[in-house]
Amino acid sequence: MEIKPFDKAEIQAFRMETTGTANRIHLNNAGAALPPDIVVNTMVDFLREEALFGGYETEAKYRAQLNHTHTLIAQLIHAHPDEIALVENASAAWDIAFNGLHFQQGDEVIVSEMEYVSNVLGLLNAQKLYGIVIKMIPNDAEGNFPVNDLEAAINVRTKLIAVTHVPSTAGNVLPVAAIGEVARKHNIVYLLDACQSVGQMPVDVQAIGCDMLAVTGRKYLRGPRGSGFLYVRRQMLDQLKLLFFDGRTVSSVNQQDFVVRNDAQRFEWYEKNFAVILGLQKSVEYVLNIGIERIWQRIQSLAFLFRQRLRELDGITVHDQGDELCGIVTFSVSGVPAATVKTKLAAKNINVHIGIAKSTLYYMNRKGLDGIIRASVHYYNTEEEIEVVCRELRTVFL
Ligand SMILES: Cc1ncc(COP(=O)(O)O)c(C=O)c1O
Repeated sequence: MEIKPFDKAEIQAFRMETTGTANRIHLNNAGAALPPDIVVNTMVDFLREEALFGGYETEAKYRAQLNHTHTLIAQLIHAHPDEIALVENASAAWDIAFNGLHFQQGDEVIVSEMEYVSNVLGLLNAQKLYGIVIKMIPNDAEGNFPVNDLEAAINVRTKLIAVTHVPSTAGNVLPVAAIGEVARKHNIVYLLDACQSVGQMPVDVQAIGCDMLAVTGRKYLRGPRGSGFLYVRRQMLDQLKLLFFDGRTVSSVNQQDFVVRNDAQRFEWYEKNFAVILGLQKSVEYVLNIGIERIWQRIQSLAFLFRQRLRELDGITVHDQGDELCGIVTFSVSGVPAATVKTKLAAKNINVHIGIAKSTLYYMNRKGLDGIIRASVHYYNTEEEIEVVCRELRTVFL
């Protein structure tokens, strides 16, 4: 399928619809992207209505529209609306899925070296509580996840494969569909952390073959902070124990017993920030209107240019490695602490982030990295912005 690149007018239009792009170069999209104005306005309007007419009354007025959020998310990841639960962030989604599994002493969980700190903590906690065995598969010398090593690590005790699609502090993309094939072949449950990939690249849960998927709203989806979702394949629903309950968990309850509702909304709380839910919905709609394939193509080409320009600068080391790279660009400036780079760029209205060792523990420790600079591009960034950032780096540090 031929993908039509964005022309300059389209990029300009996206920027006009994103007030935040006017005064700064935002390269912290892997932290929290700038939301389109429609996302912000939808939330502000909703909050105003709540204040004027009452929270429950406003919820009732927008009930059908609120329900549509599950449908749009399902459309984006090729799932069924019944398989989506709205939660506060990706860690919550991952926790509900992971801790919902029934672990026994000696169960083995295979992970990549790219797991985020929340996931590593969940794994270590299950190691303490149940005596699970964590098997971490490091990337190969070229920075790729070795699918053959994954398959070789599987045995009768393997309970779960839990990997991360795109890591927090590196630019590589894991071969999640190939991992899914292995999971299916050996009939092993597959949990995917798609926190940094949904909104950045096509994510199709059918093609990937994952059973559960954890996502946040504020990053590449350009949604509000405090939003996220969990996908649970229909066949997996009843295999996960429930970790918390309220009236929304059940379809019926009496004094003796209750019946759990038959969709993934059993994993949601009733009480939510409904303004945030509508904001998330608008951000998903925005992606769907643009087309995720076009977004992904644009991000890849901007990140390619960025890495190329950085490599031309003496004293800068680009850390990203692997056959497929994404919008997360990580680098160090020789002899200059990452915090200094961040502060100096911030003084020029350029936002970057510092990736610390804790965040992607296995990978950063193996590579001996700490305090790297993460500059993550989105489709609304421009080639000119990249040139400005590289010029600043050259002028200030090199
Ligand atoms: C790869 C990855 N997974 C999970 C998370 C956790 O996401 P959240 O902060 O929404 O819980 C992050 C956050 O940066 C991340 O980068």
